[in-house]
Amino acid sequence: MKAETGTMRTWVLHAAHRIEGTMGVPGDKSISHRSLLLGAMAHGVTEVRGFLRSQDCLATLHALQVLGVEMVESAEGCLRIMGQGPAALGEPDTILDAGNSGTTLRLLAGLLAGRPFFSVITGDASLRSRPMRRVVDPLSAMGATLLGRAAGQYPPLAIQGRELSGIAWQSSVASAQVKSAILLAGLQARGETSVTEPMPSRDHTERMLAGFGVPVRHQGTTVTVPGGVRLKATTLSVPGDVSSAAFFLVAAAAHPDGEVFIRNVGVNPTRTGALEVLERMGARVVREHERTEAGEPAADLSVRGGSLRGTTIASRLVPRLIDEIPVLSVAAALAEGETVISGAAELRVKEVDRLSALAGELSKLGARVTEERDGLRILGGRRLRGAAVSSRGDHRMAMSLAVAGLFAEGETRIQDVACVDTSFPGFARLLAAVAPGCGIHEVTD
Ligand code: S3P
Repeated sequence: MKAETGTMRTWVLHAAHRIEGTMGVPGDKSISHRSLLLGAMAHGVTEVRGFLRSQDCLATLHALQVLGVEMVESAEGCLRIMGQGPAALGEPDTILDAGNSGTTLRLLAGLLAGRPFFSVITGDASLRSRPMRRVVDPLSAMGATLLGRAAGQYPPLAIQGRELSGIAWQSSVASAQVKSAILLAGLQARGETSVTEPMPSRDHTERMLAGFGVPVRHQGTTVTVPGGVRLKATTLSVPGDVSSAAFFLVAAAAHPDGEVFIRNVGVNPTRTGALEVLERMGARVVREHERTEAGEPAADLSVRGGSLRGTTIASRLVPRLIDEIPVLSVAAALAEGETVISGAAELRVKEVDRLSALAGELSKLGARVTEERDGLRILGGRRLRGAAVSSRGDHRMAMSLAVAGLFAEGETRIQDVACVDTSFPGFARLLAAVAPGCGIHEVTD
């Protein structure tokens, strides 16, 4: 992601002698997006505390503003969304820009499919190469008209919303973005809408809908919402993002002098696969002060460093750690023995093809990583050595490579790190605080 000036932001860092600290991580990205979208669909003022002000969530916020939703943020950081129901949304007079955010584009498409006007949503080059038929097909089956490049596969998407009919949709992928897009359309449809997934994906939409007064039903991997319900504004509290916490948990778990304590992290069971994998690898992850706020479980997490051993991550677990596979691959490279990740073909259609990116970039640091059709084979235990690597424009690649750099001999340079602001502004500052010896700093190339 080159800035307009033609410069690229690069991190430079060295190995850390210890990793230690007490910290908080910014709010959950998935929950922050949903708080905006459901708040906009509701009637009344929804108050959100802990909202993540990252580029991805701000893309959703700005798109809703273009659609006419008013939002104000108080000095204490409480975001107020003045919901007037979906009927108050107006036809946008410009193209909506989802930036790098698949969640923005897909969930917004679900909302707009039920609005009786025309809209166009686009995004950056990465988003414009990500598959959209997975939402275009069900939303078209409900009665909306959606057009995109390559027969609806790639953005920009042009949407003519209409009166929708509820459907029973069988999704071929376990994807919370697909499920949520269909549910947001279903709330505006005639009759019930249900989505069945091959495996359960994150359930933040369903939990939050219950808080807005929608009677959501669950049966196995099927979730059902009624059409034409009126959402009632509510108060939401966004816990810290477990996907952001994972970078620090892995760094501390893999370091002999590692210990971190992270306050208020979301521990929704559809998101905590990485904590279980770290425990299987030999780390002790402790949860304290477990509680539930606004329907979402949260806890304080701590981990103490030691030696890790390789493990297997199979398809059953993948939806519960889909965003953590990059940093778990770093843990695997630092562990003794082999780690095999399979059933993870979805990684090929994330911000970049993460299977290919991980194999390519971690190998440059001396890790032994083999790319397979739907996963990775990582032989750990080899000393990493610093090198010039690239995030390839993917925020989670950038942060995972920074964690790897904490264990590498010599200097590690990570090119193209501006993307980190899409999910975790302030990451480098926090890393510098818990790994003081690493000297992470930014240069422009
Ligand atoms: C998300 C769902 C996941 C995840 C993404 C956020 C969400 O994507 O990878 O970072 O907020 O619904 P998929 O639904 O495509 O698996």
